[in-house]
Amino acid sequence: MVEQHKQEFSKRKLDMAERVLHRVLADVKPTPNEIKLLNAKSNELMGRLKEVAPKGVDILLVGSVARGTQIRGTSDIDIFLLFPKGMEERKMEEAGVRIAKQMIKKGGERYEIKYAEHPYVRMFLKGAAATADIVPAFRISNAEEMGSAVDRTQLHNQFVNTRLSQKQRNDVRLLKAFLDARNIYGAEAKIEGFSGYLCELLVYYYGSFVKVIEDLSSLRLPTVIDVLNKGSGGRRQNEMTERFNSDFVVIDPTDRNRNVAANVSQRSLAKAALAARSFIDNPSVNTFYTKGYKGEWASRMLKRLNSSLGVDTIVVSFVLPEMTEDILWQQLKRLKERMSHELQHNGFEQMLSLQGVSGTDAIIAFLLPNSEKRVSAVHGPSALMGRAAMEFMKSHSKSGVLLLDQDKILSMEKPRYSTPIEVLRSIISQNNIKFPSYISKRGTKLYVNRMPERYSRMLHEALEDNVIQQ
Ligand code: UTP
Ligand code: MN
Repeated sequence: MVEQHKQEFSKRKLDMAERVLHRVLADVKPTPNEIKLLNAKSNELMGRLKEVAPKGVDILLVGSVARGTQIRGTSDIDIFLLFPKGMEERKMEEAGVRIAKQMIKKGGERYEIKYAEHPYVRMFLKGAAATADIVPAFRISNAEEMGSAVDRTQLHNQFVNTRLSQKQRNDVRLLKAFLDARNIYGAEAKIEGFSGYLCELLVYYYGSFVKVIEDLSSLRLPTVIDVLNKGSGGRRQNEMTERFNSDFVVIDPTDRNRNVAANVSQRSLAKAALAARSFIDNPSVNTFYTKGYKGEWASRMLKRLNSSLGVDTIVVSFVLPEMTEDILWQQLKRLKERMSHELQHNGFEQMLSLQGVSGTDAIIAFLLPNSEKRVSAVHGPSALMGRAAMEFMKSHSKSGVLLLDQDKILSMEKPRYSTPIEVLRSIISQNNIKFPSYISKRGTKLYVNRMPERYSRMLHEALEDNVIQQ
């Protein structure tokens, strides 16, 4: 076992922190009036659903509104339509969407049909910047009965509602706000952060916001949190990290086969750990209000990297189709990794790669040294390897200068690509790399250091997301 050096609040800092949290909570907890309106709205929608739903279909309020863990001004209402098990999944989904549409007809709200793993209806409430999701699922009482991917949600509801105190629910709100300020609240592909349910489980497991922060500050990987068996995570750590193929596992107390932290990236964990340490050193309200675009900073940083360290920023821009952002983001990430690999393979060490999506615009960016490559070393086999050695010498005798490096043959030759731009240009114009399905080569452009405003804005935002706040 590695000795964990756990950071804790000193008595004085803890007092400071408590005062800060008290102030922040006043901002993040919905006002009594907002809660009243949300409840009234939820009741109205559930009543309207009841009118159109056939017998046997239950209507259940879930998510943060039902659990008292929502954040002021941002809450969405989550309502589940629960169908009896035994129905065919497809039929159940179709019926759910039909019932939701019928209900919406009466109010005339705008809506969209969304497809996650599973279809649902998102409605845009009138006179408020709020949405309500109507989600069909099977009614179950434990995870073994699960028939569709979202069925667990009702179990989560039960767990949180029966286990968390009012104080802990407020602590969940603080944790959501703390993570959101670092852009790591939410499980979607663009964020790869902590979901609402994960925040609820962490507060329950450690007991309070302060304890979660103390623990995050000394987080090491692998970590396995078995919510129902405190302290046992360590014993079966290897088994669990292997089973879930992840170094950060939080076992869902309502379903032991599910890692609630499956979408949390290591970068998000690193950001959380850094933020926790800095909050313990210096508990300040500012910690909760760092979000927002500050393009100036990134722009200065890139100029400095360029002029004093010779770092170039290469940006590849794309025109994307209308498509779920989660999918586009993942495809762009895959392409970024392929390009990155290709750069490295051709001898260009990239220092940082970034990506950004904004509507139908997208960028992939690389920060790398702005040197030109005039020679590359191609390492051949040992001269003692007979045939292989002969073949290597034959094929490189024209293109390179052949030398012996110990027993191995070395060919020094003119590189195929002398700048990273050439590598990227060949990726875009040739077929050596397959682009993911929704990313087209058409409309793709390359920029070095200077680019149109809308791309530099995306670049700055992406870079800011990697800032280490001191
Ligand atoms: P939400 O994403 O709306 O989360 O999913 P939330 O807990 O209500 O948090 P905020 O305040 O809106 O940000 C609603 C519920 O659906 C389940 C969880 O139980 C969650 O609480 N859920 C959601 C999942 O099980 N998996 C997911 O990927 C997303
Ligand atoms: Mn919600």
